[in-house]
Amino acid sequence: MSTITTYELLDGKIASRAVQERIIREVAEVTAIRGRVPHLAAVLIGADGASRTYVDAKVKACEKVGFRSTLIERSAEITESELLDLVRTLNNDPDLDGFIVQLPLPKHIDEEKVTLAIDPRKDVDGFHPENLGRMVLGLPGYLPATPAGILVLLKHFGIKTAGKHCVVVGRSNIVGTPMSILMSRNSEPGNCTVTITHSRSKDLASITRQADILIPAIGKPEFISADMVKPGAVVVDVGIHRIEDASKKRGYRLVGDVKFDEVAPKCSWISPVPGGVGPMTITSLLLNTLKAAQI
Ligand code: GUN
Repeated sequence: MSTITTYELLDGKIASRAVQERIIREVAEVTAIRGRVPHLAAVLIGADGASRTYVDAKVKACEKVGFRSTLIERSAEITESELLDLVRTLNNDPDLDGFIVQLPLPKHIDEEKVTLAIDPRKDVDGFHPENLGRMVLGLPGYLPATPAGILVLLKHFGIKTAGKHCVVVGRSNIVGTPMSILMSRNSEPGNCTVTITHSRSKDLASITRQADILIPAIGKPEFISADMVKPGAVVVDVGIHRIEDASKKRGYRLVGDVKFDEVAPKCSWISPVPGGVGPMTITSLLLNTLKAAQI
């Protein structure tokens, strides 16, 4: 087996720029028809640094494509019933096309209850069971933002997926599980033979080494090493972690679930962190919001 030493980047900034240019054109059309621009609200509970960064990026992306955005901040002391009331208010706000509640929520709040309270027609994160059920059945609905963004990324760079073996590492409700379903669907990208692995999988490396397309989404910094990757694989790194780094002005650096420096030379394509999947998640959220405004 030969070891590949040149690889290409699945650059999420490039792919998201292309999609956002299309969104900007469609915003003009939908605004002309409806007399107002698409409007997304983001709910941020507490002061978690990473969540704030993500929400700020979502709000900024809305401005860039000409959407209206509203940031709703509440303290970490908010009660579950107060948050559920807020969700109901947003469900009934006719000026709002869609909204998200940034996760994770404080421990005293049941995320499942909050997700279930969101009107599926405004659930632009695609987390509500109705939208997940629609995804499984191939019915119209909102796809979860990160898996949908990965499909757009693969499509943008012309990655062929039909007949390939895709290994997803992680079975979360918002990434691993929906990703495995989308990659197995009869569509392009899709038509993969999919293996979903998780913390109880035995001899994980022997499975990941069989992947033509490897999608690590386990939330463990630099977990995937070069010996776990098949030469020539396409690797899409979903992880994003802050690692303390005194040499950086902000005191940390960002890494993914993959040891990029040693894995990249083995790949045909690999997504960087940051600048890979992250921008695609945001772009999917914009696409879902545009769709909500077009209905
Ligand atoms: N937390 C991590 N990723 C996401 C996401 O895509 N949406 C929301 N609402 N919370 C998240």
